[in-house]
Amino acid sequence: MNDLQPIVDAAQAAFAQAATPAELENAKAQFLGKSGRMTELMKGMAALSVEEKKTRGAAINLAKQAIEAALNAARQAMADAELAAQLQAEALDVTLPGRQRGQGGLHPVSLAQERIEAIFGSMGFDVAQGPEIEADWFNFTALNTPEDHPARSMHDTFYVEGGSATAPNLLRTHTSPMQIRYAVQHVKKYRALAGDSGEGLFGGAMPEIRVIAPGRTYRVDSDATHSPMFHQVEGLWVGENISFKDLKSVYLNFITTFFETDALQLRFRPSYFPFTEPSAEIDIMFESGPLKGRWLEVSGSGQVHPQVIRNMGLDPERYIGFAFGSGIDRLAMLRYGVNDLRLFFDGDVRFLSQFQN
Ligand code: DAH
Repeated sequence: MNDLQPIVDAAQAAFAQAATPAELENAKAQFLGKSGRMTELMKGMAALSVEEKKTRGAAINLAKQAIEAALNAARQAMADAELAAQLQAEALDVTLPGRQRGQGGLHPVSLAQERIEAIFGSMGFDVAQGPEIEADWFNFTALNTPEDHPARSMHDTFYVEGGSATAPNLLRTHTSPMQIRYAVQHVKKYRALAGDSGEGLFGGAMPEIRVIAPGRTYRVDSDATHSPMFHQVEGLWVGENISFKDLKSVYLNFITTFFETDALQLRFRPSYFPFTEPSAEIDIMFESGPLKGRWLEVSGSGQVHPQVIRNMGLDPERYIGFAFGSGIDRLAMLRYGVNDLRLFFDGDVRFLSQFQN
């Protein structure tokens, strides 16, 4: 028994000294391997008597168990140390503030457009989108502005190659072409439903046309209050009994809701547009706030010209309506107190981030 304790001690010391798993397995081989010291001792028992074998065998087994226990403890200690080192290396400082993603938001012009759509939506207006590259016919001629009309010179624009008078050939100068596009589709649909052949002007019954068309428009113009690309919203209401009274009530309702105040006045100022007759500019005046007392032009408007009603496919003896076209950027400037239109298109985050809510 006594001769075994030094071997157990030596094994424990060797295991404790091993610095790597490989060294530990080497040390194991020295004591428990095929020609290890314990294995040699077992082999040496062959010469003993049966009695001696019993006691010696039990002693060797105990020593072997002690060595195996030491080996397992050393393996466990090594694994624990490895895990601890790994955890240490991968340590996270959970007290550091997280990295934040900048939160985006809508552009002030988009915010204004969404307000406009919601307000007119609540008054039963459909919202339509039209092409920015438009055909001469829709942008001018169908709006009672033939090729030699002087009003065209105020709408100088960018022309694209290809195209023709009836195929898209220019960047639209206003959203008014959507009056024609939308009305033509509307008339077509209700003509078909009425079983009408589609020839000539339509004088049958149909639901009213009530639509707004917001979108980008283009002109050769650039200064603090004009940008070559800007936004308009077109409005059109055509029916059998629509008058300026309706235009005034709709527009007043819109503008007071848009600016969230009843303390403003609205006036029609006589004007000229080829596609309306009579025509008027719509001006508003705030009765309080920083813009108090100044008349501000916010929209063109008028009663839809009979020729335009005809170009929609409708009989002007039965159908009448009003239209308006307002600058969305202008409305956004007034609502948010922005004094230079160009700020909207510079893309400066310091400016844009002021509109996030
Ligand atoms: N399209 C005109 C422009 O851009 C604005 C306008 C005036 C639109 C009168 C209308 C209208 O619908 O009736 O200058």
